[in-house]
Amino acid sequence: MTTPPGQDRLRHFIRDMTRLVSEPGATEDSLLAAGRPLLAALIATDDWLAPDFAQPHPAHYVQYLLHCDPLERFSVVSFVWGPGQRTPIHDHTVWGLIGVLRGAEEAELFAPGTPPVPTGHERLEAGMVDAVSPTLGDIHRVANALPDTVSVSIHVYGANIGAVPRHTFDPVTGAPKTFISGYANDRLPNPWRLSA
Ligand code: FE2
Repeated sequence: MTTPPGQDRLRHFIRDMTRLVSEPGATEDSLLAAGRPLLAALIATDDWLAPDFAQPHPAHYVQYLLHCDPLERFSVVSFVWGPGQRTPIHDHTVWGLIGVLRGAEEAELFAPGTPPVPTGHERLEAGMVDAVSPTLGDIHRVANALPDTVSVSIHVYGANIGAVPRHTFDPVTGAPKTFISGYANDRLPNPWRLSA
């Protein structure tokens, strides 16, 4: 596996997020507020994500785990979207920050309901950061906003997100279905390889 030239950015991000979640009295609000500029700084330069973690799948979007806090207080994930790929309507159940590294994302937002009630949509361009949480609004459907290009976003969640039971919602009936997303990879990046 190659070591990208900007690997320090990922290492520093992991270090700074670890400090944040270790602060006594850290809350969802404080983590979202303090984590947002850290994620913005991480995605401001696209030179640190190894190609292994930016590979699209021909049939569906993929998520690669980049780092999981040993106490599972947070995880860092790359989402890779092929042209036309999108998620179902889903929730998160924990706080999350979403930053676009490459390309663009379109998110449709929903309030809880039967079926979920559309409340708007937003487009995130490269360099932009958005937040989700059970208190801010937690239900959305996300798509690659670009019809002919792979998009990549970096997400941080307040748990080992690939192991969290969450829900998808049928767009017509609103019927919830529990899912656990898992991860596409079984190897992680190594931004601590300082001899490279
Ligand atoms: Fe999401």
